[in-house]
Amino acid sequence: MISLKSEYSKYYTYKGRKISKKISLSKKNLIDKIYHIYTIDEFIIRYHNKNYLNQKIVLPKKFNRVNIEIGFGDGEFLIKNAIAYPKELFIGIEVYLNGIAKVLQTISELKLKNIILSNLNSIYFLEAMTLRSVDKIFIINPDPWKKKRHHKRRLISFEVMELLTKLIKSKNSIYITTDSESYFNDMNNLIIENRDSLGSHNVKILSENDELYGISRYQRKAIEKGEKIYQLTF
Ligand SMILES: C[S@@+](CC[C@H](N)C(=O)[O-])C[C@H]1O[C@@H](n2cnc3c(N)ncnc32)[C@H](O)[C@@H]1O
Repeated sequence: MISLKSEYSKYYTYKGRKISKKISLSKKNLIDKIYHIYTIDEFIIRYHNKNYLNQKIVLPKKFNRVNIEIGFGDGEFLIKNAIAYPKELFIGIEVYLNGIAKVLQTISELKLKNIILSNLNSIYFLEAMTLRSVDKIFIINPDPWKKKRHHKRRLISFEVMELLTKLIKSKNSIYITTDSESYFNDMNNLIIENRDSLGSHNVKILSENDELYGISRYQRKAIEKGEKIYQLTF
């Protein structure tokens, strides 16, 4: 993996920034030992590399449903879902290597067989997916990039939303939550302005009874600070 990362660093960066957080030796060893079993990153890099056949991802047929979580952080929600629904496939994409290592640890302890992991910038993964091949997509509290001059670093843009809507099998299967009112407003406006291509959507402020309320450490921290959690479904 490390050699892939240095040779094809472009696929591991997002909005032009390199991800270089320190990782412990034990986590590095775990990644070196078992990450290749749970990932198809090399295939995706080949997909984007025009010297190879331009074949889209072929997922294992044995699963009832295909779910994707983008930016899973430390993987709490991803793991919870994979345990609760063993017949479904959960694809977790996260550029933060420590998060990948955490999930790998749990996967190997619990012998979970229904997770595919990717350490790539999610856009490259999504672009390599077959249209209408995904049942649900979750993006739980993407980085809000609060300062206006940093808004361009945000994960969600019209292009990303459009790509997501092409991947889902049926309407209202994309779930995005955020604790940032400004990010929520921007996403909400983008959908309203582009209704022709993105279709209709639902919005709500989550409360305790909602499924996605308090489901990650990041989100719980925001709730403790008194922030509202906004959800968009489309
Ligand atoms: C604010 S954190 C939230 C993490 C987690 N969803 C949670 O709620 O605890 C956003 C996460 O998205 C990841 N991320 C940001 N841009 C990404 C991208 N283009 N592809 C994959 N992951 C990304 C970051 O590394 C970070 O872990």
